[in-house]
Amino acid sequence: MIYRPATFSDCASLAAIEQRQPRCAQWGEAGWRSEMEVPAAYILCAQEQSVVAGFVALRLAEEVCEIVNVGVLPEYSRRGIASQLLKQALLWVREHGGRQVTLEVGAENIPAVCLYKKIGFVMMGKRKKFYQGREDALVMGQNV
Ligand SMILES: CC(C)(COP(=O)(O)OP(=O)(O)OC[C@H]1O[C@@H](n2cnc3c(N)ncnc32)[C@H](O)[C@@H]1OP(=O)(O)O)[C@@H](O)C(=O)NCCC(=O)NCCS
Repeated sequence: MIYRPATFSDCASLAAIEQRQPRCAQWGEAGWRSEMEVPAAYILCAQEQSVVAGFVALRLAEEVCEIVNVGVLPEYSRRGIASQLLKQALLWVREHGGRQVTLEVGAENIPAVCLYKKIGFVMMGKRKKFYQGREDALVMGQNV
């Protein structure tokens, strides 16, 4: 597995991953293209042979970074890909002057909550009934 910054030519693959994972933010190919044009955005992907198997997308504004989208193809799950993507992303953030990383995750999204805790994120707060007026959002963060 190689981990590398995503490029415009990855947009279709990134959109295909999120389509397979309804818990991802659903940006579509055009959304990925616009994200790549945002100066504050950084997108890292995982590739094995010709398959783009996962991604993490973040935005860094001075010292504060937000993780805005994470996804791994279902058939590649539980192989440590998201963990590796996040660890490399956190290193990149630190190298680029970021000091705090935050994210929002559905309280019922147990795989993602477990993943983030394992990588060192802690609970910072809760947004009640944030998703579809039903599911709470947990705000998690860590200093890097
Ligand atoms: C959450 C997600 C990114 C995890 O990707 P992954 O590559 O399988 O994660 P990893 O293999 O690095 O797993 C790291 C840890 O996360 C937790 N985890 C991952 N999948 C899990 C699952 N299905 N059930 C419970 N815990 C899980 C475990 O603690 C795991 O460590 P372990 O395998 O040593 O027990 C992936 O399942 C996914 O794309 N989900 C849908 C999109 C999503 O929810 N994105 C986040 C939105 S905020």
